[in-house]
Amino acid sequence: MADERPIIFSGIQPTGRKTLGNYSGGFRQYVQTQEAGEAFFCIVDLHSISVEYDPADLRSSTLDLAALLFATGLDADRSTVFCQSHVTAHGEAAWLLSAVASYGQLGRMTQFKEKAAAHEFVSAALFTYPVLMAGDILLYQTDLVPIGDDQRQHLELTRDVAQRFNHRFGETFRLPDGQFPSVGGRIMDLQDPTSKMSTTLSSEQGAVYILDSPDAIRRKFKSAVTDSGRDVRYDPAVKPGVSNLLEIMSVATGETIDALTRRFADAGYGELKEAVGESVVELLSPIRERFEALRADERELQRLLAVGAEKARRASEPTLEQMYDRMGFAKPEAGRFFGAARPRGL
Ligand code: TYM
Repeated sequence: MADERPIIFSGIQPTGRKTLGNYSGGFRQYVQTQEAGEAFFCIVDLHSISVEYDPADLRSSTLDLAALLFATGLDADRSTVFCQSHVTAHGEAAWLLSAVASYGQLGRMTQFKEKAAAHEFVSAALFTYPVLMAGDILLYQTDLVPIGDDQRQHLELTRDVAQRFNHRFGETFRLPDGQFPSVGGRIMDLQDPTSKMSTTLSSEQGAVYILDSPDAIRRKFKSAVTDSGRDVRYDPAVKPGVSNLLEIMSVATGETIDALTRRFADAGYGELKEAVGESVVELLSPIRERFEALRADERELQRLLAVGAEKARRASEPTLEQMYDRMGFAKPEAGRFFGAARPRGL
């Protein structure tokens, strides 16, 4: 297997406006990794129903996200970009894997605890969501999962679920590794730099959205919260605000934190904030323009997603079939668990 190209898989939710944090831990890494192997990028619409959402918005936010994935550099000829609900194997795998997912471990998930605390109604889907994510990854025999820091615990759970399944039912899954950015794995809220920049939990001023106008971006950085003292140095424990700004600028320009710290050593916080804002405007403006052009052609987006779904179905079928088989289900008449009853070419 050593000469095989690694399989890469990642997922991102279609609901909510995508932030600079999503860019740093998500989009940016997707584009880097698509060169390195056989890559699958999934719009995880089934995940999005785990918290309150508006059905009227889901379809259009799914197309928004598809356009944004291509606008940030994914190439439909190279990568498989698809929608989770178009590949029924994902829902099936989640149910099968829930037999080997531990209730106790699911209850220890930080994201579950945080989101459960923030919502009045806590759905069962919010609780079981990491099992769906495990299925996403394991169905493709994934080697590498490009993600931000906040998904680390979910990936650990995925590995545990895979190991438990392999142990109980026979070797079936490859154990995936995470790929985390060395800088910008956890972009923080501009108004509260001790909390993650988040689609759902950040305030309007605390989060920079990929599709924000240049003026909005400049304004947000101008009002970013910094730290006591005047010196510009990278030390997240003591200087969370300044360190976050340095990380953001490093993500936007590709310069190292060291080089940036030297450059701004004698500058005030105001100057730093302005420079970071400008670097983010430069990063995001071309993305926004490409997004607008791509989003205008819905039929083309739908076509690309249909091509992606067909590739994803073919790639995930053998593993799902093996799961049913290893778990001891009686084969249906046609002799295949999956695919036989399904019209081909859909
Ligand atoms: P989601 O949609 O919340 O986020 C998508 C990606 O953005 C990263 N991210 C961040 N990175 C750095 N700093 C931040 N402040 C920040 N906020 C978000 C996330 O780490 C993620 O990589 N459960 C996943 C989606 C998913 C998935 C999968 C991921 C479903 N199935 C399979 C990988 C593999 C989620 O909700 O990501």
